[in-house]
Amino acid sequence: MNQDEFQSLYDFTGRTVLITGGAGVLGIEIARMLVQCNANVVILSRNQERAEKSMAEINADVKGKGRAIFAQGDVLEINTLQQAKETIHSQFGDVDILINAAGGNHSSATTKPDISFFDLPLDALRHVGDLNLLGTILPCQVFGRGMAERSEGVILNVSSMNAFRPLTRIPAYSAAKAAVNNFTQWLAVHMAQNYSPRIRVNAIAPGFFITEQNRFLLTDKDSGELTARGKSVIAHTPMNRFGTPEDLLGATIWLISPAAAFVTGTVIPIDGGFSAFSGV
Ligand SMILES: NC(=O)c1ccc[n+]([C@@H]2O[C@H](COP(=O)([O-])OP(=O)(O)OC[C@H]3O[C@@H](n4cnc5c(N)ncnc54)[C@H](OP(=O)(O)O)[C@@H]3O)[C@@H](O)[C@H]2O)c1
Repeated sequence: MNQDEFQSLYDFTGRTVLITGGAGVLGIEIARMLVQCNANVVILSRNQERAEKSMAEINADVKGKGRAIFAQGDVLEINTLQQAKETIHSQFGDVDILINAAGGNHSSATTKPDISFFDLPLDALRHVGDLNLLGTILPCQVFGRGMAERSEGVILNVSSMNAFRPLTRIPAYSAAKAAVNNFTQWLAVHMAQNYSPRIRVNAIAPGFFITEQNRFLLTDKDSGELTARGKSVIAHTPMNRFGTPEDLLGATIWLISPAAAFVTGTVIPIDGGFSAFSGV
């Protein structure tokens, strides 16, 4: 392979990428990068106003062949995903690449000094479990079907470093992301064996990135100083810092590109070494 051929592996001209959670803190950076790489990008969100604003910003910034559009959808409502599929088809055709970035924890499913594990409410546990696991499985059903029919496609799930070793206080989120890892492996095998070895399924497992979901678990609301938990995270991160959304881009583009043509069923930690460090 010569240099031009190698560089063209990262040119997504004519490829349609759907990003669930594409208007979120991490999803938006992935969307921007893919539009810069000439992809047709679909930002799936429940929130039209926010997603359209993100989409307009990206389209105004990027001068290449890529373009972003918005599709309304809820990853837990299969009918809305089917509708989104039709909207996308009319504008860009089939979805070639699905990135499942919708997900996250919710404070109501987090133990606190005044709420023990024994008192975590059922609906909070169910919501976090469903959002992260079913919210990954349902888009794979809806958009993976077309990949199976065309014998080609790429799925990238967004897991979390706490899938490998659970973090304290967030039992439903940890368990759900562990299930996402397991499902990533399951679907990789299922697609390759039953449909096509040219359908690949992988995941990234981000470590600690300061976002709205975890800001006040890691930093003090008033002083902005690291909390005890924030200090502990940094102490257990050999690279000695939190991640930034840009840190996800290299592994993401590699996994969804033909450069990773022989890679399926993997979960790549992007965590500054957190999951490798024993603490001693
Ligand atoms: N931030 C971190 O430190 C970190 C670490 C490890 C893993 N992760 C994972 O990375 C992914 C992205 O997280 P983030 O930090 O970017 O969080 P975020 O800013 O809260 O974005 C998450 C997105 O999920 C979407 N979403 C939630 N429920 C949805 C539903 N029912 N249907 C459709 N979309 C839904 C939201 O979209 P709308 O409100 O626009 O619909 C939101 O934009 C998540 O899976 C998260 O678990 C994050």
